Amino acid sequence: MKALVIPPVSLPSDSKSRRSHWCSVFPAASFLFLIFFALYAFIAPDYKERLSRWGIADTFQNFKFSNCKNQCRPPGSESLPEGIVSKTSNFQMRPLWGFPKNDENSPINLLAVAVGITQRDLVNKMVKKFLSSNFSVMLFHYDGIVDEWRDFEWNDRVIHVSARNQTKWWFAKRFLHPDIVAACNYIFLWDEDLGVENFNPKQYVSIVKSEGLHISQPALDYKSLVHQQITVRASKSGVHRRTYKPGICDGNSTAPPCTG
Ligand SMILES: *[C@@H]1O[C@H](CO)[C@@H](O)[C@H](O)[C@H]1NC(C)=O
Ligand SMILES: *[C@@H]1O[C@H](CO)[C@@H](O)[C@H](O)[C@H]1NC(C)=O
Ligand SMILES: *[C@@H]1O[C@H](CO)[C@@H](O)[C@H](O)[C@H]1NC(C)=O
Repeated sequence: MKALVIPPVSLPSDSKSRRSHWCSVFPAASFLFLIFFALYAFIAPDYKERLSRWGIADTFQNFKFSNCKNQCRPPGSESLPEGIVSKTSNFQMRPLWGFPKNDENSPINLLAVAVGITQRDLVNKMVKKFLSSNFSVMLFHYDGIVDEWRDFEWNDRVIHVSARNQTKWWFAKRFLHPDIVAACNYIFLWDEDLGVENFNPKQYVSIVKSEGLHISQPALDYKSLVHQQITVRASKSGVHRRTYKPGICDGNSTAPPCTG
């Protein structure tokens, strides 16, 4: 039983006050930027090389890029008409004409599950619960069966991706690309066999938010089948934490998520 919550971006809790703060900082920032830019433009090429070895040139590049957000084209799209390719997107469905009903600024959370038709009943409960909490939902069909989900009334409101015999990580790496999920506050990348009777997505997100957790999973009851001790519910506190050394994926890795 595994559940991961991966929030790729910081939380927009006090974005209003932050925005006004930024407004006052902006003239100074853009002036500084001009100075940086002027300096950068006059740096001799070999010096640039040395800078890039220290990673400094990259920082300059990022400055340059963030300044021209919409004018700079993503690499490879230069020959396309302007505005066709944007740097980021999300999974909110749009009507064929007009604008989406949802407020563009409303928080977007995503539930992504690798599913097989044999788990249809559990998945049904899960999807219903998350849709009613205004999550976007994406199903990865690893058994290649898509049509048999048509009976569910929510079928047309979720995104289906189908590829035979692929792992959750294979799907995640290809369809949850950072450019696409950057707009999400929280991503739930779940296994399909989790019971959700007592789970409240909104409440869970609010706990995770207030604790500032970047990766988390709901604790398991003592009665559950427990694979990892860390996943058992702590009796005295709302959450408990463990920090791991970040794993390394290299040419010798043999298991997902490295090989997915
Ligand atoms: C979901 O969104 C709709 C429309 O934006 C809103 O009316 C509804 O209250 C939201 N539901 C929840 C549980 O937030
Ligand atoms: C998927 O896996 C099943 C069972 O291992 C196998 O019978 C089937 O041929 C595989 N399909 C593909 C497209 O790889
Ligand atoms: C893979 O393992 C071999 C043998 O242990 C080692 O020599 C090699 O450096 C490893 N490769 C990487 C990329 O770590």
